[in-house]
Amino acid sequence: MKVTVFGAAGNVGKRVIDEAIMRGHEVTAVLRNPSRATELNPAVNVVIGEADNVNDVVRLSMGQDIVISATRPPQGAENQLVTTAQSLLSGLAQTKVRLLLVGGAASLVVPNSQGTLVVDDINLVPLAWRDIALACLAQHQLCQKDKAVEWSYLSPPAMISPGERTGTFRLGNDELLIDEQGNSAISFEDFAIALVDEAEQDNYSKKRFTVAY
Ligand SMILES: NC(=O)c1ccc[n+]([C@@H]2O[C@H](COP(=O)([O-])OP(=O)(O)OC[C@H]3O[C@@H](n4cnc5c(N)ncnc54)[C@H](OP(=O)(O)O)[C@@H]3O)[C@@H](O)[C@H]2O)c1
Repeated sequence: MKVTVFGAAGNVGKRVIDEAIMRGHEVTAVLRNPSRATELNPAVNVVIGEADNVNDVVRLSMGQDIVISATRPPQGAENQLVTTAQSLLSGLAQTKVRLLLVGGAASLVVPNSQGTLVVDDINLVPLAWRDIALACLAQHQLCQKDKAVEWSYLSPPAMISPGERTGTFRLGNDELLIDEQGNSAISFEDFAIALVDEAEQDNYSKKRFTVAY
């Protein structure tokens, strides 16, 4: 497959590039800052662009099979998550390329809570994280309303951090996955496996899914 990755130098982006290249895909990494190219897998094709520029989205998705986006806005500009998602959806509506968007856990339902969302659970989202969680919620709602693009939205569990590539994890739909010890977590490496699996298998078209141990 021909895969374009926005947010390529990020925690998720770098691992997705490694995973996709390992599986033989042709990967284009979109960077804003060319100096970060040295951090990437040398087999990737590096281009310069911005996910929140619709012209860049059109130009860099044309002829590709899928766009995977894992951008994160700076603190204080959380709402960029929503404008970036809007830009991706607008551009991909033109090129008719699938979007696999890395979102947040905010819009997942807390298990056994009678429908409380993660964003509204103070134990999961302390006040300091509320702005980014609300932006993730709005980002997910924007995808849900979209009719023009074949999008899929992957919500991480509560915690995602550097770790091992185990290949062993659970998939879910709209509920936060928590293990028997009360942990809701995954490594960036296994998260990347779930993303590339979805790119290849297209199991969650116009749906959200989640992944955790
Ligand atoms: N539990 C959760 O809900 C949870 C936990 C962690 C992460 N996440 C989500 O996962 C996503 C990725 O996280 P991460 O840790 O990989 O982020 P990260 O390491 O901060 O990397 C984000 C990357 O996005 C790039 N970027 C930002 N805005 C961009 C734009 N408009 N166009 C192109 N590139 C842009 C940045 O580029 P520069 O290098 O140029 O700055 C950076 O390389 C985020 O959306 C985050 O909200 C969710």
